[in-house]
Amino acid sequence: MNKISNWVKYCLEKIPYRQGRALDLACGKGRHSIFLSNQGYNVLSVDINEISLNLFNGRSIRKKAIDVEDVNNWPLEEKNFYVIVVTNFLNRTIFPLIINSIDTEGYLIYETFSDGHQNIGRPNNPKYILKSKELINLTSGMRLLEYEEIYINNYVNHSFKQRIFTQNV
Ligand SMILES: C[S@@+](CC[C@H](N)C(=O)[O-])C[C@H]1O[C@@H](n2cnc3c(N)ncnc32)[C@H](O)[C@@H]1O
Repeated sequence: MNKISNWVKYCLEKIPYRQGRALDLACGKGRHSIFLSNQGYNVLSVDINEISLNLFNGRSIRKKAIDVEDVNNWPLEEKNFYVIVVTNFLNRTIFPLIINSIDTEGYLIYETFSDGHQNIGRPNNPKYILKSKELINLTSGMRLLEYEEIYINNYVNHSFKQRIFTQNV
């Protein structure tokens, strides 16, 4: 899991400014936080699991152990973010709160499990699996930059994923 997502890398390369505030939501062991920090962003890494948060550090990384599914914890900060990265995490209720936390002209990079995955592994709970094109619907108020539904099958990864890159307008 330490290698970063090629989707996250691909989208970040398309962003003109490698500076400003970035949020790695449900960051786990921080693989994307570290990458964002090395790119030049000021990163907030958020996860409910304090043990995971303690496993990494980086230049310009701040960490918060909070339950992001608790709507009372939103907004996470007073100021909005230029980039928000979410991978392998889904809670449909907080989706509008995530989008509201992005600056005008800021970006959302999202990647998680999609329809079909329930037949090949975990998670298999529909709560955590996107329906086809669901990320497009969830981000319909944003400018769509890139989108794909993909079946990944290689030596480290066997999954159905949905991935989106959108900009706030
Ligand atoms: C599958 S891991 C993905 C980690 C990371 N995004 C990645 O792709 O490497 C899911 C993460 O979501 C976190 N998580 C689950 N529920 C959460 C919640 N309610 N609030 C914050 N983080 C949560 C877990 O602790 C875990 O680190």
